[in-house]
Amino acid sequence: MIITIDGPAGAGKSTVARALARRLGFRFLDTGAMYRAVALAALRRGYDWDQPDDLARLAEDLDIRIDGDRVFIDGEDVTEAVRTTEVTAVTRYAADNPRVRARLVELQRRLAGDDNIVVEGRDQGTVAFPGAECKIYLTAGAEERARRRLRDLQAQGEPVAFEEVLSAQELRDREDAARPVGPLRQAPDAVLVGTDGMTLDGVVDRLVSLVEKHKSPH
Ligand code: DC
Repeated sequence: MIITIDGPAGAGKSTVARALARRLGFRFLDTGAMYRAVALAALRRGYDWDQPDDLARLAEDLDIRIDGDRVFIDGEDVTEAVRTTEVTAVTRYAADNPRVRARLVELQRRLAGDDNIVVEGRDQGTVAFPGAECKIYLTAGAEERARRRLRDLQAQGEPVAFEEVLSAQELRDREDAARPVGPLRQAPDAVLVGTDGMTLDGVVDRLVSLVEKHKSPH
């Protein structure tokens, strides 16, 4: 069974997807980490962001491996390295590149196989797994998402202001929606779950009951 979780930045997708996978005994795939990994590799090689063909070739040749929660490029564990604000700022070059997307979607399908898995990202229910058995669109209000992001950054010791987080998030929301290939959209058969004011356990309980319903629709 494939469960897709899509939604905007800061909706809590990875935390929720990981917790749901653990609860169900499913595998978990964070597809954002794959776009981040391509961006990190390009950053390290000093690529010119105005050369989309170079970036596409890099993504096609790069050895990206996912092992549980860890992401590797060319054998090196880059799980933490892909989450810096420096990488976040350039990941859109990978996400906006149609050839990079084609390569990563192919890899996502290969990784999922026909196993039980929770996959999270922006285009999982629309492009990567349109036939998935259970699709969730996870979201929350812009201010709530920015508050959560601010808490995470403060916990990591990054001194940032709320307004700064909110405006960076508004930019990412616009980029995610405007992307010509694989934009953020709610699939017609996805269930919308708003998480404002809900605890992590509350959200996971709600998703478990949705999954149960999809397993036995009658
Ligand atoms: O979820 P995240 O912040 O780790 O995602 C990193 C970037 O990758 C973000 O700008 C959106 C993009 N992304 C995407 O375009 N498609 C996906 N399936 C997952 C992430």
